Amino acid sequence: MGIVYHEGSKIFQIHTKNTTYMMGVYAGIHLQHLYYGKNLTDPDCAYLFPQQETPGALHGMKRGGVDFFGTMPFEYPAFGTGDFRGTALTVRSIGGHRACSLAYEGYRIMEGKPELPGLPATFGDKAQTLELCLRDAVLGLKVLLRYSVFDDSDAILRSTTVVNEGPERVYLETALSACIDMPNEDYDVTTLHGTWARERNMQKRPVTHGKLTVDSVAGRTGHENHPFMMLTSPGATQKQGDVYGINLVYSGNFLARTELDHLENLRLTIGVNPEGFEWPLDPGERFDTPEAVLVYSSEGIGPMTRTFHDLYRNHLIRSPYLYRERPILINNWEATYFDFNEEKLVDIAREAKAAGIEMLVMDDGWFGHRNNDESSLGDWFANPEKLPGGLSRLAERLREEGMQLGIWLEPEMVSPDSELYRAHPDWAIQVPGREITMSRHQYVLDLTRQEVRDYIFDSIAAILQSAKISYIKWDMNRSLTDIGSADLDPEHMGQFYHRYVLGLYSLQERLVRQFPELLLENCTGGGGRFDPGMLYYSPQIWTSDNMDPIQRLLIQEGTALVYPLSTMGAHVCVAKNHCNGRVTPLHTRAHVAMAGTFGYELDITKMSPEERAQCAQFNAKHHQYSHINREGDYYRIASARENGVYDCWQVVGKDRKEFLLTYVQVRYESRPRRLQLRLEGLEAKALYRLSGTEQVYSGDALMKAGYPMNMLWGDNNSVLLHFEMLPNETGKGSKICK
Ligand code: DGJ
Repeated sequence: MGIVYHEGSKIFQIHTKNTTYMMGVYAGIHLQHLYYGKNLTDPDCAYLFPQQETPGALHGMKRGGVDFFGTMPFEYPAFGTGDFRGTALTVRSIGGHRACSLAYEGYRIMEGKPELPGLPATFGDKAQTLELCLRDAVLGLKVLLRYSVFDDSDAILRSTTVVNEGPERVYLETALSACIDMPNEDYDVTTLHGTWARERNMQKRPVTHGKLTVDSVAGRTGHENHPFMMLTSPGATQKQGDVYGINLVYSGNFLARTELDHLENLRLTIGVNPEGFEWPLDPGERFDTPEAVLVYSSEGIGPMTRTFHDLYRNHLIRSPYLYRERPILINNWEATYFDFNEEKLVDIAREAKAAGIEMLVMDDGWFGHRNNDESSLGDWFANPEKLPGGLSRLAERLREEGMQLGIWLEPEMVSPDSELYRAHPDWAIQVPGREITMSRHQYVLDLTRQEVRDYIFDSIAAILQSAKISYIKWDMNRSLTDIGSADLDPEHMGQFYHRYVLGLYSLQERLVRQFPELLLENCTGGGGRFDPGMLYYSPQIWTSDNMDPIQRLLIQEGTALVYPLSTMGAHVCVAKNHCNGRVTPLHTRAHVAMAGTFGYELDITKMSPEERAQCAQFNAKHHQYSHINREGDYYRIASARENGVYDCWQVVGKDRKEFLLTYVQVRYESRPRRLQLRLEGLEAKALYRLSGTEQVYSGDALMKAGYPMNMLWGDNNSVLLHFEMLPNETGKGSKICK
């Protein structure tokens, strides 16, 4: 474990428990990528340097460097001097030239992990960091490549800082976070794509020649693509095969790309999208890229997923709610949309409380004069017609009912029909002389401006100080268009997108620092900004507006490929579902929502007494078992996406003493089969009892032969099972099979 430099071979090795990442300095100049994969300890890996002639220009010979640069496995490739593949760094000089060549200068190995100024990033004490310094002597540009590891994780964290140590301004046109050049092994690449109400679907296809890019230019991560890529060796499964996952801790325009070149070299890059980006860097200034997270597994997809989950839980999410029991909430959006008032909310709260629900979240429509989506964003004071006693009386009445209050806000937005917009029309992002492209009747506020951020912060702080509010749902319902800020001069307008994201981060940073007990849930018109950047501020994110459990199987499978279950906002909806009209049993809606944060989004006063009694049982069960989902190890056992019939996942407590098994059958088959669900992560020698029965199984048999699941009757049916390890005769430890 740890970071080692081998002076003789000029090779850097970064070791985690199960992986090794290796780079070397070739010919004293070029930082080359040598290896990323299963852990290896051989210090003398000099044979891994490509056996190629070095470029003449750099060594007094007269042969060309183009072939060399064009195929060299660069650790951080720069544009303009012979590498024609997708670049990590493009720099324009004041003279308009785009040429950069980075030479190795030195390194340092540090204990700990430095912060990334203004950016969310992983953190933790037991860390080591390697910083490599490269330089373009002509531009006077210093490039610092950082690699950090934590003692308890197989992830490698990368970020890059560019410092202008030259005499003149330069312009960064591309500055990505990470690049990995590796030999092609016929990998497949899996990405997460979607749209509103259908976010993060997994799509796998072969890596082919040329570039395959997923990106966003919408000013947010977006519903459409995701800053994540997974390379898998042919035939890789949950349990076997080589798997590389890469994810970006960022919430704005991104790019992730595979590129297979003519000599079968594979390049994987990730970072801020160069499209719409230009960053002038004056002498003495620095630019920090967001952090990229790299995870390799030699034992299939499952370990990659669990490495991401543990990393984000242990080293990214700061909220005190991370491992805390979260309140079961009921949100009124699909129950009432804009048509509610204090009495209606109190009625819902009363019935909800009787069923064991603990918090009412008042969604969109409580402020200004908002009765539809055409007005009032920015006017964050209670609508007197709906809430005559304001937020404080509502909170008080809910408290009397034994319920907490949470509220919806959309702080980044302004309606043209609002007091805020009439007072500050220039606070909306816009291009002078051009009508702002409308979306959902709203404009986006210019978060690059301090006064705008202050207004937003003060508004939220005043709300939180005026009433006992325990939770905020921070929504964001449109993309950024017509990019222009009254505060940025033409030279700096290319900074806008990134500055917007930095502005968002600084706002949420202020909020969680000033109100540390606030439970914050980010949301973006469903799940359009579900990314590690936002998880740094909020322990949960609304996953999708689609709560139909069958559609949710796909959404939650894709989301949980990377993100812990405890982060997925998930509610029980009505049947018919509002997004697709599907009718499903109440227990299936609940079982799927229990894989996430768990709550309701329906009018509980309209449910039958039997249904409400069922909800009370779900709530009790959720509280009994939700710690397993929050803390445990997630195993994907089967996927309805692949088999068309059933979905199954398992979550095992870290101590392996109990686990949950969720089986959802999307399609009933006549003359059904009996399935043998091969479980994972159990104590082989222990005995587990299925709760509520006398059935006992050995861990070994459950993992090898599987759990016998009789198919359920009908489509869209489900069961959620809990198993507990039997104590041994002394009551301590587990009962072991003889
Ligand atoms: C989009 C969110 O995803 C929904 O849950 C809801 O809050 C609406 N916005 C309200 O406008």
